[in-house]
Amino acid sequence: MAQPAKNSNPIRLWGGRFTGEIDPLMNQYNESLSVDRVFYAQDIKGSIAYARANVKTGILTQEEFVKLEEGLKIVLKEWEEGKFEPAEGDEDIHTANERRLGEVIGTNIAGKLHTGRSRNDQVATDMRMWLRDELILIEGYLVDLLKVIAHRAKQDIDYLMPSYTHLQRAQPVRWSQWLLSYATAFQSDLERLRFTKKNINKLPLGCGAVAGNAFGIDRIQLAKELGFDGLIMNSMSAVGDRDFVVEVLQCASTIGSHLSRWSEDLIIYSSLEFGYIKLADAYTTGSSLMPQKKNSDSLELLRGKSGRIFGAMTGLMMSIKGIPSTYNKDLQESLQPMLDTVKTLKDGLQIAARSLATATVYPEKMRAALSPDMLATDLAEYLVRKGVPFRETHHLAGRMVALAEDENKGMDELTIEQFQGVDKRFGDDVLSVFDYERSVELKDATGGTSRRAVLEQLEALTKTLEI
Ligand code: ARG
Repeated sequence: MAQPAKNSNPIRLWGGRFTGEIDPLMNQYNESLSVDRVFYAQDIKGSIAYARANVKTGILTQEEFVKLEEGLKIVLKEWEEGKFEPAEGDEDIHTANERRLGEVIGTNIAGKLHTGRSRNDQVATDMRMWLRDELILIEGYLVDLLKVIAHRAKQDIDYLMPSYTHLQRAQPVRWSQWLLSYATAFQSDLERLRFTKKNINKLPLGCGAVAGNAFGIDRIQLAKELGFDGLIMNSMSAVGDRDFVVEVLQCASTIGSHLSRWSEDLIIYSSLEFGYIKLADAYTTGSSLMPQKKNSDSLELLRGKSGRIFGAMTGLMMSIKGIPSTYNKDLQESLQPMLDTVKTLKDGLQIAARSLATATVYPEKMRAALSPDMLATDLAEYLVRKGVPFRETHHLAGRMVALAEDENKGMDELTIEQFQGVDKRFGDDVLSVFDYERSVELKDATGGTSRRAVLEQLEALTKTLEI
């Protein structure tokens, strides 16, 4: 970006009532061009629509509109070609564009553009336009991640692994069941995101600084031209609301929290002690000191950066929770967390998808981590099928666990006599319980980990991915 030209007395668009000099540090403190320059195209598009609507109000002649549009397109081109030169008095993207427009087409016409408009309705419009485009990208990346999960879940459906509660081995499940547990969370995220996208797409422009537009501007025409689905129906709300940003940051925080837990699981699974997966080199780094190290940096960063996203959300909520009605400069503080979060999330979703797509899975390690004690519940349920009340079978299965422990054996290594010594109702077929495949296949109710139930989940997931 070109450095602003030095000028001890810069021209300011609002300068009429000001006589004193501005403290240079205050200038720096107040400026937002370094952040909101990303909206240059939205700002210009909004101005063209606003000018067009002002032909109908009689503020502009058709010729003046043509000049304005030409001028705004020249400014747009300058931005696109990296030739836009900010000037010292450019506080933000709105003042920068208008100042430059005046230089290009003359202030006589350029000076009419802002009639009835305020930066208050302008910035809210730019932000919504920018966000809705970014949300389309985020939605795409989330769908990509879900597709990678779905693909792996289908391809790896035969792999069995321990499930964990309290990080203690619990019951055998399919690896696909674990994969799809996160898909379920990301799927809800996708629904929330789609809902938020709809909320964002309402137009604030045409509300002026606070009280509305005095020239009868056709807001419906503005909304149509700018691709909004509807209007914000109250001028004070239109200029003072940043809930749409909060909503995006909240969505992002929930996605971040899911990415973080997902990463945490995979970090554990990729430790040598587990060895269930190995990340591709492209998503790991080594240690500067220990030559043997291969660290899961992509996952650790996903976990760590989710903290940044929560911080952005709580920070913005703190910034706005106590301000009085309508526009206050505090609202400018919504820009930075919005941009930072959108970038962090977009990058994170892609890193997550790529890390998973390229990871190697070791089903034999998963299988080796299964142990017969994980079938103690299956043993209790075996007796339930013979009519014994569950409370009693739970106790009997517990006694078999204790016996195996005493004997320093797997439960599947105990003899039929030992089972029947504890309870006569254990039949000759009791050892058939100690089959991991059988165990997962029994969990066949919807949501369970049998092959059929997993495929059912996959089918439901695939439906939501059709955009
Ligand atoms: N840069 C400002 C922002 O992002 C634009 C609105 C300024 N409005 C004002 N009344 N000073 O919030």
